[in-house]
Amino acid sequence: MHLVRDNLAQAVDAAVKPLELAVVLPTFNERKNLGPMIERLDEALQGIAWEAIVVDDNSPDGTSDEARAIALNDPRVRVIERIGRRGLSSAAIEGMCATAAPVVAVMDADHQHDPRLLPEMLKAVTSGEFDLAYASRFCDGASTEEWGRPDRVKASGLANRLARKVTGVTLSDPMSGFFMLRAATLRADAHRLSGVGFKILLDILATVETPLRVKEFPMSFAARAEGESKLDRTVVFEFLVGLYDKWLGRIIPTRFALFGTIGAMGVVVHMAVLSAILAVFGGPPLKGQLVTAFEVAQTIAALTAMTFNFFLNNALTYADKRLTGFVPLLRGWAKFGLTCLIGLTANVGVAAILVRYGIHEYPAALVGIVIASVWNFALSSKFVWGKYGT
Ligand code: GDD
Ligand code: MN
Repeated sequence: MHLVRDNLAQAVDAAVKPLELAVVLPTFNERKNLGPMIERLDEALQGIAWEAIVVDDNSPDGTSDEARAIALNDPRVRVIERIGRRGLSSAAIEGMCATAAPVVAVMDADHQHDPRLLPEMLKAVTSGEFDLAYASRFCDGASTEEWGRPDRVKASGLANRLARKVTGVTLSDPMSGFFMLRAATLRADAHRLSGVGFKILLDILATVETPLRVKEFPMSFAARAEGESKLDRTVVFEFLVGLYDKWLGRIIPTRFALFGTIGAMGVVVHMAVLSAILAVFGGPPLKGQLVTAFEVAQTIAALTAMTFNFFLNNALTYADKRLTGFVPLLRGWAKFGLTCLIGLTANVGVAAILVRYGIHEYPAALVGIVIASVWNFALSSKFVWGKYGT
């Protein structure tokens, strides 16, 4: 009851004082971190009219239920639950666009960012002197010691260097996930942000028309309180794809480059298998032989290349959809195989006919591969690479 009355008082306060700040907390499996996080915000933001917007991607651990339970007694807490979606950047964008507050902040919900920096950041932005305030892990006075992850410090340093080279952004930590800006600034360019992966701050900085005046706050980046990091292979891959897109995307479109690279690797695998089998079993067909060694070899090579592409795709597809374990992998492989079956049949069929008409085996194999690729591209561009745009 006491808690309810306290919160009532806060609600009245908030109603009297116009909203000043929205803190967006993107969450995925942060149930245990959320309550303590709101308490820390409450403590840090005394005297400021704020709200917290939890953007949860339907976490299996019930983070959104926890957020709603908190919100029931605390009108400053709001929840957006996204179904069938994943991604820190897109969650942050949607959270920032879902508030009436004139200033928005984004921070991690796992206690790695210290909310006590928020009031100073707010002052910097509302003073009109700066457009964006952010907390850096790598400037003078900052520290990553508490984090206890020298491997991640190194990786982040490399990512930051790459990002600075490609985008021309000069901050010491453009990969930081802790920043604040005027909501209107964000909204003006929100439709042009990529929303892919973790690089939301970098995205904002590299996208806005007029360069932002940035105030840097050194932070001590803490260790995560509960649970695990969601930064995985996919996020790293998406980051590299994003950089490529900014760098060469206009000359050689990203989707084409991706498909071409993976396709070329498949062709290498295919040709290696084909030549290995032909080296052992090749030679002119015997009389009365129904299937030639080439036809069998082309089929096996195509199946091997398909399997190779399946694992490559599986490793690079969204983390929450990645198949692991023998049975799910086998099932996924079979499904993938069925999808590719038409391409595979056309591939082997056309190559076989060409060889029977006297075309050399390797060019015939290549024609088969190209035909299968058109089919696979039509499918994969929709299901696998669709998220990287055109
Ligand atoms: N809604 C949603 N959807 N939230 C997500 C998702 C997602 O797919 N993935 C991660 N988050 C949330 C987490 O729940 C957490 O609150 C915050 O985003 C940061 O995610 P972590 O998984 O804790 O990231 P990290 O600590 O490994 O990465 C840190 O360094 C990155 C740069 O190196 C963070 O500070 C990142 O913000 C930063 O970009
Ligand atoms: Mn974290």
